[in-house]
Amino acid sequence: MSSLERTLRDGTTMPAIGVGTFGSDRYSPAEVAKGVETALGIGYRLVDCAAVYGNEDLIGDVLASAIAGGLPREELFVMSKVWNDHHAPDRVRASVEKSLSHLRLDHLDACFIHWPFPNSHGRGAGVDDRDPHARPYNHADFMRTWAALEELVDEGLVRHAGLSNVTVPKLQRILPDCGIQPSLTEIEHHPTLQQGELFQHLVDHGIQVVGYSPLGSPSRPERDRTPDDLVDMDSPAVVEIAESRGVSRARVCVAWAINRGVVPIPFSVKEHQLRDLFEATRLRLTPEELHALRATDRNNRLIKGQVFLWEGAGSWLDLWDVDGTIPGWHGYGS
Ligand SMILES: NC(=O)c1ccc[n+]([C@@H]2O[C@H](COP(=O)([O-])OP(=O)(O)OC[C@H]3O[C@@H](n4cnc5c(N)ncnc54)[C@H](OP(=O)(O)O)[C@@H]3O)[C@@H](O)[C@H]2O)c1
Repeated sequence: MSSLERTLRDGTTMPAIGVGTFGSDRYSPAEVAKGVETALGIGYRLVDCAAVYGNEDLIGDVLASAIAGGLPREELFVMSKVWNDHHAPDRVRASVEKSLSHLRLDHLDACFIHWPFPNSHGRGAGVDDRDPHARPYNHADFMRTWAALEELVDEGLVRHAGLSNVTVPKLQRILPDCGIQPSLTEIEHHPTLQQGELFQHLVDHGIQVVGYSPLGSPSRPERDRTPDDLVDMDSPAVVEIAESRGVSRARVCVAWAINRGVVPIPFSVKEHQLRDLFEATRLRLTPEELHALRATDRNNRLIKGQVFLWEGAGSWLDLWDVDGTIPGWHGYGS
């Protein structure tokens, strides 16, 4: 098992690498659960789940059997997320209780509000369509949702509360209004999307960054693909370092995240890939290699979230507050 860990704001630790569980439109819940079983066997102890991934029940079977087989619960760090249709105090509790029941756990080590955009009717979005019920960020409503998560922390159902898919303008609104500060935040993070300002803001506020799609998400859904996208494993700097080191491109991407202090959560259901990725905790990149990877940053956002665009919104860039303001801010909450 990798001994590399990260320390959270309350002094507790979490593994420095985890395994993702979003099967995209490629892998069935059973395949993903089997992947988690393989990952646990290799030594992964951090599992990134979400209610909306539709596989927590089968992952729960895997966790229960691992624990019954002798894996101490306290070695595991299991995370879940509250989906967009559960942005209301009673719905947050319902979401977490369902995740706990599916995962067969009595607490989540971390729970995130999955996206800062609410909707009202289930997933709503088809593969290619906008979510017809999506609504823009509403600060007052979001803070009520956050407060509900804080209550679950107070009750011990959730150990660490987290944000996901937020921006600096949103953090500037959210953090001063939190009763309990987020311990971690999940953001898209790979060499070609380094999110420097957001990364620094999170670090400055003592928030551990968890990096999703660390390889450049080659298996992401069709709806998230545009012609200019670059999978990081194909980035020339990554290829060159991988070739000169004699390691895989995937390992270089994950090692870069770990070297930056980010907890990467790559996804795979394949044993050889999971083993390869796990070895990244041992790969120390040189200052020259880090410099070359830093230079690959090109704001290459792969999970654009366009299905969450509300009626009347412009492009998907509105989701990410690219001009430093929250679109439609005036009139939304306090
Ligand atoms: N908070 C959020 O909103 C959010 C959003 C997106 C993702 N996530 C989380 O982040 C996790 C990871 O993100 P992701 O799945 O988008 O992208 P990713 O980890 O960057 O890419 C996963 C894909 O990379 C390939 N791969 C994995 N290991 C490899 C290796 N060693 N060598 C070569 N190729 C390898 C696999 O493709 P093949 O299957 O084709 O082999 C796999 O499907 C998700 O599962 C989820 O838990 C969270």
